[in-house]
Amino acid sequence: MTGAGRTAVLAGIGSCVPDRIVTNDDLARTLDTSDAWIRTRTGVGERRFADAGAATSDLAAAAGILALKSAGVAEVDLVLLATATPDRPCPATAPTVAAKMGLDTVAAFDLAAVCSGFVYGLAVAAAMIESGRAQRLLLIAADTFSTILDPDDRTTMSVFGDGAGAVVLRAGTPDEPGALGPVQLGSDGALADMITVRAGGSEQRALGVLPDTADAYFRMAGKPVFMQAVERMTAASLAVLRDAGRSIAEVDRLVGHQANIRILHAVADQLGIDRDKAVVHLDRVGNTAGASIPLALADGWARGELRPGDCVLLTAFGGGATWGASVLTWPELATP
Ligand code: UT7
Repeated sequence: MTGAGRTAVLAGIGSCVPDRIVTNDDLARTLDTSDAWIRTRTGVGERRFADAGAATSDLAAAAGILALKSAGVAEVDLVLLATATPDRPCPATAPTVAAKMGLDTVAAFDLAAVCSGFVYGLAVAAAMIESGRAQRLLLIAADTFSTILDPDDRTTMSVFGDGAGAVVLRAGTPDEPGALGPVQLGSDGALADMITVRAGGSEQRALGVLPDTADAYFRMAGKPVFMQAVERMTAASLAVLRDAGRSIAEVDRLVGHQANIRILHAVADQLGIDRDKAVVHLDRVGNTAGASIPLALADGWARGELRPGDCVLLTAFGGGATWGASVLTWPELATP
């Protein structure tokens, strides 16, 4: 298939979360927090932390294999990995993931947009397919935030969890179920300090700053992030619906970045979408950063919350700051 009208179509989905469950009560054993506080303020009931020795690439490869099975294919033209917790600062993790999946010498690279990584990845994937540079590709979003959290920071420890979600996108036409609609993306680098890991990059090294353990941990200014997340996800959602020529009333499911149940509800309220239409997965896995949207999609599909033909609105906000939104009609997919 070539030429105008060529569109990226969702053809398969897979997910992976680690086996190790960490409950709110588990956290309360070492931190000054409680199950009641975490549930009320975030909506998280438990999260999964990767076992020692399991890196981001392991979760990503497991999710990727399931997505290929779901799509019924063995090969892709490109592996694109959205992550903020790569196995190493250098090289990229995507080639390692491809190798672990047995994908031989396939093209593979990482994309860094933190919690917006999956939506950014959709835009890149769509561009590759629409331009004819790829027929079919694997987009994986995976993060192991447990490896960068400060064990003494109750705010971030109570929010984040580990996981990976993956989708196969293939060339198709805009009228097919699963055809990806427009994508809206934005960023504001003036907000880089709101969500950050300061150490490990060129900025500190260029100043000759010696590695400081505290700087090696993930830091988040919860309150301003909360407000920005609601504002940006709402605006991006409205813009993408406008671009797609669809109305709020047509949206069957809102799949927002699983940051906090209060954020999901605030976005739904501001958009005028019934809160019940928001797919909620964070109660069982927490905020899995870049992985949260594909994990919520896989979970919503497995539980029958997403049905073929549903108009699904996706939106994310994350470090950078970055944000984005997209919309698609949910297709029939095989569950591996
Ligand atoms: O994924 C990337 C995007 N991330 C997000 O979108 C996260 C956005 N932010 C949030 O979800 C919320 O801001 C948090 C869940 C991180 C924090 O909730 P909050 O309602 O904004 O709490 P806060 O930061 O305003 O803190 C209120 C109080 C503070 O105590 P004081 O200063 O009032 O005495 C915190 O120290 O709650 C305290 N606190 C906690 N208490 C018990 C913060 N975390 C905890 C905790 N347990 N786990």
